Amino acid sequence: KDLSSTKVYDDIKELFQTLPQERNWDGRWLCQYKGFWCPVRCFRPIISSQRHFDARDTDILLASMPKSGTTWLKALIFSIVNRNNYSIDQTPLLTSNPHSLVTFLEFNVYWGNDNPDLESIPSPRMFSTHMPYELLPNTILESKCRVVYICRNPLDQFISHRHFLLENKLEKDAEPLAIDDAFEMFCKGIHPFGPFWDHMIGYWNASLNNSGKVLFLKYEDLKEDIVFSATKIAEFIGFSFSVEEEKLGLIEEISRLCSFDNLKSLEVNKFGNRGVIQNSSYFRKGEVGDWTNYLSPLMAERIEKLIEMKLKGTGLMF
Ligand code: A3P
Repeated sequence: KDLSSTKVYDDIKELFQTLPQERNWDGRWLCQYKGFWCPVRCFRPIISSQRHFDARDTDILLASMPKSGTTWLKALIFSIVNRNNYSIDQTPLLTSNPHSLVTFLEFNVYWGNDNPDLESIPSPRMFSTHMPYELLPNTILESKCRVVYICRNPLDQFISHRHFLLENKLEKDAEPLAIDDAFEMFCKGIHPFGPFWDHMIGYWNASLNNSGKVLFLKYEDLKEDIVFSATKIAEFIGFSFSVEEEKLGLIEEISRLCSFDNLKSLEVNKFGNRGVIQNSSYFRKGEVGDWTNYLSPLMAERIEKLIEMKLKGTGLMF
């Protein structure tokens, strides 16, 4: 389990060697850093981003647990911010996967580059991350940049992640564990960027302490009323829709553009790929409650009790 094949800063290497490690059920190595299980391959990018990322007040950061609606949020925020730059029938979203338009700090921006030049990117810059709130670069917390967080019912998140990892096989030579064993690890919080409860609580508390800094969203709420959610997101990031735009039905148009059915049907998302990841794997079912097709009532009961216990007193519920 090497941190990376390239030369690493000696102090990152030293720090890394002190961390507990576990294999995720798909075979990828995770290391436990400040209470969170980070994929080993993005440990160095995380530390590099903490050291070098220089946030601007105008930056927008999309944060999430994997498989919680990140792709959807990327499409929505990109469209909201760029609505005066591209018409709906000319938007890059029609020919690029949302992950190519808004990139991850730890998987893209700082991957293989400890100190990339981000100065030339025009404002507002948009980035995304799966990092927990506690690991975000300090300049993000100190600046006025906004953070939009999305999470999802943990049972659906678990099932969605399971499909995604089985389909993409990020650890080619590993034999994935059976669903029961994977579920066991999930309940212990040992999964990429887990424990899920601490991930959610970190952003939840931040949104309560500073509602102008962190917007806390749930996938299920977007599913229930996307126009309401898109309006709220636009307001929060400082790109409110005008009365005129509302009358013209622009919010509905953007919501339709970013809908699951529309994005899934695009050539780029049917046949394209980003490295080893198939774009189609970002668009599986897009439903609430699909976990019932895979997990027993007993498993659900166990997670529900766990969630109740972990979220008790926070005001956060699922
Ligand atoms: P399912 O596997 O349950 O279908 P992420 O974007 O964080 O990787 O999460 C992926 C999940 O969001 C997948 O869930 C995927 O189908 C769903 N999804 C992707 N785009 C969506 C969209 N535009 N609307 C609703 N759900 C979407």
